[in-house]
Amino acid sequence: MAYILGIETSCDETAASVTKDGREVLSNVVYSQIPLHTIYGGVVPEIASRKHIDKIIPVIDAALREAKIKKEDLDAVAVTYNPGLVGALLVGVSVAKAFAYSIKKPLIPVNHIQGHIAANYIAYPDLKPPFVSLVASGGHSHILHIKDYRDFEVIGATTDDAAGEAFDKAARVLGLGYPGGPKLNKLAEDGNPEAIRFPRPHNGYDFSFSGLKTAVINYVHTAEQKGEEINKADVAASFQQAVCDVLVNNTVGAAKELGMDKIAIAGGVAANTLLRKQMEDTAKKNGIGFYCPPFELCTDNAAMISCAGYFNFKAGIRGGLDLNAIPQLSIGDVL
Ligand code: KG4
Ligand code: ZN
Repeated sequence: MAYILGIETSCDETAASVTKDGREVLSNVVYSQIPLHTIYGGVVPEIASRKHIDKIIPVIDAALREAKIKKEDLDAVAVTYNPGLVGALLVGVSVAKAFAYSIKKPLIPVNHIQGHIAANYIAYPDLKPPFVSLVASGGHSHILHIKDYRDFEVIGATTDDAAGEAFDKAARVLGLGYPGGPKLNKLAEDGNPEAIRFPRPHNGYDFSFSGLKTAVINYVHTAEQKGEEINKADVAASFQQAVCDVLVNNTVGAAKELGMDKIAIAGGVAANTLLRKQMEDTAKKNGIGFYCPPFELCTDNAAMISCAGYFNFKAGIRGGLDLNAIPQLSIGDVL
């Protein structure tokens, strides 16, 4: 039996969680800083770092309390160390180091993307690799062949903007505010997804959202210049449909080519209701099983870090007191 404390501070959520054997969540505490950043229209890194410092100890205390676990009973402390905002990551990494040292338990480095994928192991206790996973968040969008718990191969990726970034930018030009993804998702429910034909660029299993984002911005600005009224719900629905078509076609295509019978989705954009439905329907039509975490495990949280930390712990991965925060993604290095 292994109790792992997970710590996540890579962006604007201060989070801590205790899981048991990587599949059972005993506590999952998330302090969201979103209201703090909303007035700026996006995450302000320095504000995020300072707020993490304020909140991380109370959040860890709450996670231990809710799990009814004494710190001495933990087997390891897992922490997101890449990728993310460097100042924000450093808060979690520093606290995790000090905490692990003080209780004389191992420190386990976790890659944030590996964490997003692991959310599926919590949601489906019987899920085992191999499978294909789409990871789409605010900073990254990848189609991965999950060969084993820690053995991943990139099959396709965005060549420019992440899916979440495209959602946030499109939402901004529609005046929906931050964070745009969930707001655009809601508005799209009232729109016609076929009203405007936005571009769907892809090359093999790679894809691009920068052109789509620009097309939406141009559409809105052109209408403004002509003094024409736009139907915001139609723009939102048409944009969302374009993103989902690209992500679903490429992910299902990759799974078919690899002969996989399971597709999982992960990351903040996996909370999108159209993506969940379209991926599930298309996967099922092709005889492929579909897996997706509940909403609260799609967006940033520490349960997924604790779970991924468990697999790293079992594999003997350890972080030293020289563990550093690394802002860039390095799927090959750690996963
Ligand atoms: O995984 P996440 O919480 O943080 C990162 O690791 O980036 O993802 C945040 C991203 C944001 O861009 C947000 O707008 C997007 O996920 N997102 C959504 C939805 N919920 C969150 N995008 C589309 N539809 C949603 N329902
Ligand atoms: Zn994330």
